[in-house]
Amino acid sequence: MAFTLRWGILSTGWIATKFSLDLLVNPSTRQVSDVAHRIVAVGSRSKDSAQKFVDSVWNEAGVKEGKKQVKLYGSYDELLADKDVDCIYIGTPHSHHYANAHAALSAGKNVLCEKSLVVNAAQAKALIDLARSKDLFFMEAVWTRYQPFAYKLEEVLKSGKIGEVRGVQAELCVDFGPTAKKNPDHRLINPVLAGGALLDLGPYPWTQLALVLLGEHKASTEPLPVPKVVSSMTKTTSGVDASVVAAIEFAQADGRIVHGTLTTAQDRQTAHSRCSLIQGSLGYIEVAFPTYRPRSLTYYRWANEGDLGDPTVKPVESETFEFEPRPGGIWGFAWEADEVARCIRDGRKESDRMPLRETLLMMQVFDEIRKQGNFTYPPELETLELK
Ligand SMILES: NC(=O)c1ccc[n+]([C@@H]2O[C@H](COP(=O)([O-])OP(=O)(O)OC[C@H]3O[C@@H](n4cnc5c(N)ncnc54)[C@H](OP(=O)(O)O)[C@@H]3O)[C@@H](O)[C@H]2O)c1
Repeated sequence: MAFTLRWGILSTGWIATKFSLDLLVNPSTRQVSDVAHRIVAVGSRSKDSAQKFVDSVWNEAGVKEGKKQVKLYGSYDELLADKDVDCIYIGTPHSHHYANAHAALSAGKNVLCEKSLVVNAAQAKALIDLARSKDLFFMEAVWTRYQPFAYKLEEVLKSGKIGEVRGVQAELCVDFGPTAKKNPDHRLINPVLAGGALLDLGPYPWTQLALVLLGEHKASTEPLPVPKVVSSMTKTTSGVDASVVAAIEFAQADGRIVHGTLTTAQDRQTAHSRCSLIQGSLGYIEVAFPTYRPRSLTYYRWANEGDLGDPTVKPVESETFEFEPRPGGIWGFAWEADEVARCIRDGRKESDRMPLRETLLMMQVFDEIRKQGNFTYPPELETLELK
C-alpha cells in the first residue's frame, strides 16, 4: 500500500499553485505506486486567499475529491500548529524563507522549502543545524535534480561517452524587463524581497555544474570544501544583481581542477537551443533550455582525443534524449515531492540527491559572488535574528 504524505502548503502564490497542482495528479500517471500525496491544509496571510487558492487549484486540476477536507488558515502559525500535517511546503519569496522555515522546524514539522533556501550561508547553516537538532526532514526544493533529465545526464556521464569531463558552462538568463515594467515592486527585482538574478535563477546553472562536477551526491554532516570563485556582477536600477558571470574551480577526485562557469541574468534571455555545455576529452553534451527543466540533452562522441578539434572529422556517435514537458499531466514538481515522501516514510532526514551540505555550499559560493559584486541585501534580510 502506498505511503501518503500529508502536506501543509504555506503561501498561495505562483509556485505554490504549480506545486499543489502536481500533488493532485495521481502518481500512477508517472508510474509511481509506493507513495502518494494529500494536501490537508493551506496557510496564507489571509483566509480568503487560502480559500481562493484551493478553489482555483482544484478547479484547474479538474479534481473533486479532497477539496472540502482541506483546512484553511489565515495565518502561517495556525498552519504550523496543525497536527495532521506531516510536511510543510514553503513557497514565499526567498526574503521570508529563513523566518518561515525556522518557524516550521521549530513547530516540529518536516520542511520542503523553495529555492533559494535562504539569503546567505549563515542562515542556511542555522536552519540545517535546527533541522538536525530536531531530527526533522529538511530540503531545498530544487526540482531539476529529480527530473528524468538528471538521471539521464548521470547515465551518459557514467557511460564515458564524452570521456573525461574538462569543463562545464551553465547558464540561466530570463529577461524580466517586461515584468519589471508592469510591476516595479515585483519580488524578482525588489531588494526588500531578496530580488536579483543570482538567488532567483542562479540555483539552476549551479545545479547543472553540481550534477557534473561535485562527484557523488550524498547526505553527510561532513562539509564540502568551498571552491575558489572569480566573478563579475552588474546591477539593476532597483539595486539588485542584473547579471552575474562566475568562474568556479571544482576539485575532482583524481586531483584535477575543472572550471565551471555560471552565468545568470535577468536582463537577457538564454538561447532555447542550449543552456549548458559539458566538455569532455572525447566529445560534449549540450543541454537545451530551460535550465530548470531541460527539454533535451544531446551527446556527441568522437573516436579519438584530438579528433574533436578537427572540423573535418565527424563524431562517431551522437544521441538526443528528449524530456516531455508535461509527462502524465505534471509540471515536474511531483518527482521531488515523491522523494520527500520516500525520505519521510523511510525516516531519512535529507535526500541524497539534494543533500543539505550541497545547499550550504551553493549559498557559500553565492555569498562569495555577492561579496565580489559588493552587493548586500538590507540588514533585516541578512540577519539571523527573528522578529
Ligand atoms: N522551483 C521553481 O521552479 C520556482 C519557480 C518560481 C518561483 N520559485 C521560488 O518560489 C518562491 C516564491 O515565488 P513565486 O513566484 O511563487 O512568488 P509569488 O507568486 O509572489 O508568491 C509568493 C507568496 O508568498 C506569500 N508572501 C508572504 N509574504 C509576502 C510578501 N511580503 N510579499 C509577497 N508575498 C508574500 C504570499 O502568499 P500568501 O498571500 O498566501 O501569504 C505570496 O502569494 C521564491 O523563493 C522563488 O524563488 C521557484
